[in-house]
Amino acid sequence: MRKPLEVKWIAPYENKHVLGIVGSPRRQGNTETLVDAILASAVEQGATSEKVILNELDIAPCQACNGCQRTGKCVHDDDMKKLLPLMEKSEVWVLGTPIYWWGPTAQFKTFIDRWYGVDQRKFQGKQIIAAIPMGGGDENYAQHTIGMIKDICNYLGMKYLETVVAAGMNGRSSVRENTRVLESARAAGMRIMNFL
Ligand SMILES: Cc1cc2nc3c(=O)[nH]c(=O)nc-3n(C[C@H](O)[C@H](O)[C@H](O)COP(=O)(O)O)c2cc1C
Repeated sequence: MRKPLEVKWIAPYENKHVLGIVGSPRRQGNTETLVDAILASAVEQGATSEKVILNELDIAPCQACNGCQRTGKCVHDDDMKKLLPLMEKSEVWVLGTPIYWWGPTAQFKTFIDRWYGVDQRKFQGKQIIAAIPMGGGDENYAQHTIGMIKDICNYLGMKYLETVVAAGMNGRSSVRENTRVLESARAAGMRIMNFL
């Protein structure tokens, strides 16, 4: 008798690597809790993950010197050198920032500005989830930040997957105490492995 054909199903991204980037200065606060929940559920689905806290890295603001345009290298010798290889090896970036005055934090914006001086071809195809808590009760406070991230993704050929937005998060542990918000973060993490 012929042996039955052995069919092995291979997931398209067996080893998807997800990088959480936390733009809040507050450790274990709402942004980090959202990012952690997304990463944890992605890992449960088979992904691997790492997390960085921008506030604990030395990332200097762009000086608009255009040195990068002349030499291909940024004039700053700082932690972006360590962060960029992490970003490049990760298929998915979870970009977390709370809303500060209708926008992202200074730490987050400083980090984004430094994308000016990188080899942006290496960002093409990266998949992005934005994780955004805010104190106000109206999700519209996040519209400029979400719009900014979406426009950058579009400009650089990155794929914006989704936003996990949490309004009314006034206390440090508001997200941790909110089952609905945590569930929406976990659901986004679960979907990560489904995107091709
Ligand atoms: C400097 C500053 C500015 C803020 N501006 C806003 C704002 O414009 N709209 C809003 O809804 N919340 C605002 N908030 C509240 C934070 O978005 C909110 O507390 C958030 O949950 C903090 O997240 P974290 O715990 O990760 O730091 C502001 C907080 C700070 C410290």
